[in-house]
Amino acid sequence: MITSTEPETKGNFFPGHIETFRFDGNSVTFTTKNNVLLKIDVLRDSILRFRYGTDGIFENDFSYAIDKETIHGFNKFEIQENTSHITIITSKIKCRISTADLKIGIYDLQNKLILDDEAGFHWEENFEFGGNYVKMSKNSIDGENFYGLGDKPTSFNLKGRKLSLWNTDQFAYTKDLDELYKAVPFYVGLHNNTAYGIFFDNSFRTHFDFCNEKRNEVKFWAEGGEMNYYFIYGPQIADVVSSYTHLTGTPDMPPMWALGYHQSKWSYFPEERVKEITGTFRKLGFPCDAIYLDIDYMDEFRCFTWNREHFPNPKEMIRALEANGFKTVAIIDPGIRIDTDYGVYREALDNDYFCKRADGPYMRGKVWPGQCYFPEFTNPEVRAWWADLFKELVGEMGIKGIWNDMNEPAVMEVPGRTFPMDVRHDYDGNACSHRKAHNVYGMQMARATYDGVRKYAFPKRPFIMTRANYAGGQRYTSTWTGDNVATWEHLWLANTQVQRLCISGMSFTGSDIGGFAEQPSGELFTRWIQLGIFHPFCRVHSSGDHGNQEPWSFGEEVLNITREFVKLRYQLLPYLYTAFYQYVEEGIPILKPLVYFDQEDVQTHYRSDEFIFGNQILACPVQDANALGRRVYFPKGRWYNFWNDEVMPGGKEWWVDAPLEKSPIFVKEGAIIPKFPVQQYVDEIELKELYLDIYFKTGTETSVLYEDAHDGYDHKKGRYSLKTFKFRGRSNEVIIQQHKDGKYLTTYEHLQLRFHGLPFKIVQAFIDNEEVNLTELEYDPDYSTLKIPKKFDLLHLISQVDARR
Ligand code: GLC
Repeated sequence: MITSTEPETKGNFFPGHIETFRFDGNSVTFTTKNNVLLKIDVLRDSILRFRYGTDGIFENDFSYAIDKETIHGFNKFEIQENTSHITIITSKIKCRISTADLKIGIYDLQNKLILDDEAGFHWEENFEFGGNYVKMSKNSIDGENFYGLGDKPTSFNLKGRKLSLWNTDQFAYTKDLDELYKAVPFYVGLHNNTAYGIFFDNSFRTHFDFCNEKRNEVKFWAEGGEMNYYFIYGPQIADVVSSYTHLTGTPDMPPMWALGYHQSKWSYFPEERVKEITGTFRKLGFPCDAIYLDIDYMDEFRCFTWNREHFPNPKEMIRALEANGFKTVAIIDPGIRIDTDYGVYREALDNDYFCKRADGPYMRGKVWPGQCYFPEFTNPEVRAWWADLFKELVGEMGIKGIWNDMNEPAVMEVPGRTFPMDVRHDYDGNACSHRKAHNVYGMQMARATYDGVRKYAFPKRPFIMTRANYAGGQRYTSTWTGDNVATWEHLWLANTQVQRLCISGMSFTGSDIGGFAEQPSGELFTRWIQLGIFHPFCRVHSSGDHGNQEPWSFGEEVLNITREFVKLRYQLLPYLYTAFYQYVEEGIPILKPLVYFDQEDVQTHYRSDEFIFGNQILACPVQDANALGRRVYFPKGRWYNFWNDEVMPGGKEWWVDAPLEKSPIFVKEGAIIPKFPVQQYVDEIELKELYLDIYFKTGTETSVLYEDAHDGYDHKKGRYSLKTFKFRGRSNEVIIQQHKDGKYLTTYEHLQLRFHGLPFKIVQAFIDNEEVNLTELEYDPDYSTLKIPKKFDLLHLISQVDARR
């Protein structure tokens, strides 16, 4: 039996006195009297890795989470020794190791305690499976708060929670349910305005206790493997999250269409129904970029086949949809139906690619197709075979994206709803049981899928989505929060879960808008769209048996309102694309919870209702039925009401009216927000100009705009454009400096500026110090709009004629 609570302490062993230590360039290894090893690697001045071995040995050092391309390097690494401690000093932190018991204390350079061990490392032998339960306990400082851990459907601040990570298919999950689809063993601790992160890179079932059992103690432990964790120093949450995201990697830029609105259902079939849905979108002028095919497109749920009765000519259908701006995304599950007439099954059998039980039989289990075997995705050869299966679906038929599901892995009608623990895995040459491979199975499936789609979609970019994932899986795939329910509570959960995933390295995430199970009211659907347009991944999906969930299924009013919000998402695509670029390049989460935005303000520590979308938009979704407004907490700064330009000072909670057609949205003072015209799908029209909405501020603010060809790989050869706008405002003038990097030439030549809150009428304009006639710039003083050429270094607008010029 596997215990999911910590075993009795009487069986615990603890490290003894340090006997020797060895220093080798970027690490120190300690050996204790009772043969415990501790290796501390200095990865960066702010990142230390701790690995413990018992019996004097370490396991083979292998991780699916760590990005092989992550860059290491430090400025300083010094060791000091005295009678009671050995101290490692970098240019950011000091780490003291107690010679008596191997306990750790980490301090900043002013000797302020960041984190220290309570009992520290200890372990208990596992007689049933061998190896150890590996455990760690740390002291928690009064007032400390905790964030992270992936997709947990619970309060954003994890203080007082006890949670475990074991990927689980949870249909219609409930709030506070523990084990869900993803395992991201990374959290952030915050106390005294100092943030640090812990990434416990162990794929066994892991457990975390954030001051639940004991008020001042944090514990994390795993049911096998090594105590292997990374300590990441901030002091800002932003530093911790970016460092963690760099360590575990970021994806490439997605095709821009993947950031559009997507429509899905279990299931749209036959072909006429698919065309009716897509046709209705166009007829109603409701923007949409992707249509999803759920399991019913297949021939009796056999992956990589088609039900020819419902889809007689899939290639032609996909082509016709594409001509209408729709990209077709198809689902692929891991279960391969046991069926000797089925090519994929036979191939896998012939090549020995299916998972096996400990004594040799194949791992057999029921999923949608009936009894199945399951590819062994932790074997690189199997992944390569799987990737090639996409040749026809993607390469020949033109499917643009693949959606991986049921890959926790989910098995129906068996205890535990997954593989038995004795199933064997290759784990890329580190043979193990399912206890170790379970949490990475879905990630390795998505990785194999990504390899295939990338290969066969070339020269276009791949799009993958997965339900199960492990830390680092963001390199390959987007994700969604699984089988939620059409309730107001789930709307709140979606908001919290997506923010949590964003600070857990997985920004490309969204929820089933409207709820997967049951049917939303028109009001709930509207409010969910108002949230969903701010999620990096924006898809309406629902199960088949609870009525329709297309935006027109709830009557005229809902259609009209939701269409306006989806249009807004399309207008904001260049802004979202830029935020995505910053995620890819700098590991900056696309959504920023308020505590991330301003950790110094304690008001933010328990809040998750509002969040920052990108860098400068504050989104405040309404989460209650019949609400005509809500209280909004405004973080530091001053914020423009998106609807009426009223300016709200931050650091305070205010009531904001929000009738059904108006979700509260605010824009940071000084922001320059790039916008596209409304399109029915990405690249429907060739851009003639780009809109810049400029929110006046007395003072300065920097905004960024990333552009490229929206698809393909030219951006990797320098054909991108990264613009920085420096805004400076005073009561009688505005100065905007533009700096551009990269070789991409945009299709448009002009920028259409629109000022908000400009306190004066423009009388004179200078571009790169040359005066330009305001009529030439089509200046409209009533709307504060003007049109300028895209190429400029310095734009200077003033309220009165400058006689000195
Ligand atoms: C799972 C998925 C859901 C999908 C269904 C049928 O429940 O989470 O999104 O529609 O399977 O494939």
